[in-house]
Amino acid sequence: MVDEKVSKEWDEASESWTDFVRRGVDFYRNEMHGKAFFSLLGRVEGKRVLDLACGEGFNSRLLARRGASVVAVDFSEKMIRLAKQLELKEKLGIDYLVSDAADLKELSSNQFDIVSCFMALMDIKFYQEAIRSVARVLKDGGRFIFSIIHPCFEYGAVTVDGKKIGDWKYDEACDTWLYESSTYFENLTLRIDWNMERLLKPFVSSSFHRTLSDYSQALYKNKFLIQRLVEPKPTSRAISRYPGMRKHAAIPHSLIIEAIKEKG
Ligand SMILES: C[S@@+](CC[C@H](N)C(=O)[O-])C[C@H]1O[C@@H](n2cnc3c(N)ncnc32)[C@H](O)[C@@H]1O
Repeated sequence: MVDEKVSKEWDEASESWTDFVRRGVDFYRNEMHGKAFFSLLGRVEGKRVLDLACGEGFNSRLLARRGASVVAVDFSEKMIRLAKQLELKEKLGIDYLVSDAADLKELSSNQFDIVSCFMALMDIKFYQEAIRSVARVLKDGGRFIFSIIHPCFEYGAVTVDGKKIGDWKYDEACDTWLYESSTYFENLTLRIDWNMERLLKPFVSSSFHRTLSDYSQALYKNKFLIQRLVEPKPTSRAISRYPGMRKHAAIPHSLIIEAIKEKG
């Protein structure tokens, strides 16, 4: 099931991604959706948690420091290598594994209280298989909490054949941001150009546009009940520090969903 092209992209991005999150310049995570995600997670002490598509382990470490017993997986070998290097320096007892979210074949069934997947499900090509695997490894009644770029308001990406999928416009007369898109109902493979100045070096990743109904259907098919849904907003402090976030006080950037695996 591994998509070699996509895993190679993340291998190539791993050094720059690691610098980005560890140097504290992932402002959106630090100021907006990271906080909202952990607030939805709540207390994790004593819980067995899978951090799915963990990257270099930023959230895995936060979860472990909060008392969770953490298994963390990513299909990029280089990301996992970088995560393990830090684990050697700060031993948190995190068990890092290279695994594809679409099968998680290294993990036995019904073992986790929580599966957490931060800003990655939209990057997972076989998301239906991934959701099925999450259902398999969760205990009955377990929680699947994931965040994604809000599928209704994606921007700054183009399809692999160069089509723009949506964009922001600032309306001076109304002093507000507007969003427009005409491709919402299409399933699209997107090319994301990570080229912000604060990156060590630019990189490219693939991402996959699906509708909210697609995600909800995949959850329903695997006996998940959506319990809570959060659309994080920037605080006024965040906007004053990072004015680019202002548009997300009007139109959401990301979406966090908590789904519960039904018993039986
Ligand atoms: C935007 S990064 C987020 C990383 C991490 N969750 C974090 O909070 O920093 C997306 C991650 O998804 C991983 N990924 C994408 N597709 C995957 C798959 N099929 N199986 C496992 N990991 C995958 C990538 O390797 C990358 O580390």
